[in-house]
Amino acid sequence: ANPVYSTRSCRYGAEALREAALLIRAGEPVAVPTETVYGLAADATDTHAVAAIYSAKGRPSFNPLIVHVAHMDMARTLAHFSATADRLAERFWPGPLTMVLPVRADSGLSHLVTAGLPTVALRVPAHPAMRALIRESGRPLAAPSANRSGSISPTRAEHVLASLNGKVRMVLDEGPTSEGLESTIAAPEMDRIRLLRPGPIIAAMLGEATGLPVVAAKADAAIEAPGQLESHYAPAKPVRLDALRAETNEYLIGFGLMPCHINLSPEADLREAGANLFAALHMADASAAERIAVAPIPMEGIGAAINDRLRRAAA
Ligand code: TXA
Ligand code: MG
Repeated sequence: ANPVYSTRSCRYGAEALREAALLIRAGEPVAVPTETVYGLAADATDTHAVAAIYSAKGRPSFNPLIVHVAHMDMARTLAHFSATADRLAERFWPGPLTMVLPVRADSGLSHLVTAGLPTVALRVPAHPAMRALIRESGRPLAAPSANRSGSISPTRAEHVLASLNGKVRMVLDEGPTSEGLESTIAAPEMDRIRLLRPGPIIAAMLGEATGLPVVAAKADAAIEAPGQLESHYAPAKPVRLDALRAETNEYLIGFGLMPCHINLSPEADLREAGANLFAALHMADASAAERIAVAPIPMEGIGAAINDRLRRAAA
């Protein structure tokens, strides 16, 4: 049976951090901000703790989790790093890049984290709250986005509460996240880098740092990114893309100068639009309108990641 908690939202600070670390050590998941989205974190070496994440999210257990570590030394105890992986880590960690790497036989990770795959998805986050929680608990932390499986990712503590209230004990509230889109997921190989999920670190940056070609993972290579299920990040309401104006009963999410209900970036700044995207989808979903419409977003730079999320929201 799934225990029901009264979820507490605590402003991030020394005392809240100590309490959160105690919960982690006791095998309980805690919601914590990263620079991308809020994560639901638990001890990645404790199978019961990891099972509690899947259960709180209603997530299928064939979909593996990202493991968060504080620094490179901790990362090396979990996975094998090639020269390319080393270079990417040096350039982009801490930050919004997740690397899929061969898992070490002696990693100590719960098999539930990797869902039985020979690889592990690793990331060194930049957000001070997540970093402090890893340090204080002394554990690698498995953390998917802190929302019910398939729904819109949380970029504020209120989003976590709206989705997981009663399912987790504690949310560390440190305000809105800065990136607003989930990390880029990349699998470095000998002669190329496979991009499994577009995100804040854009493909061109990965190529520049390594001198290797960056190839988008094909849909049939979805074995590698089981979380890239077609319908994901989905609001409860139908979503129409590339909308230039609102039709009757539509809530229009705009971009650039245009009449709309909420604007991702009036100055048409893609980074700002990425940071505001999920909050806008949450607003649209909670509005009185029956449907959601979204303005066209250019494919340049981080626009690739924004359009990836929008396509899934509309699927
Ligand atoms: O920004 C982020 O990445 C956030 C924050 C909390 O760190 N986390 C996040 O986790 O977005 P989640 O669980 O929502 O997405 C993780 C993705 C899934 O698509 C999963 O299938 C993929 O990572 N993944 C995990 N392990 C993998 C592996 N070994 N091979 C391929 N894909 C993997
Ligand atoms: Mg997610």
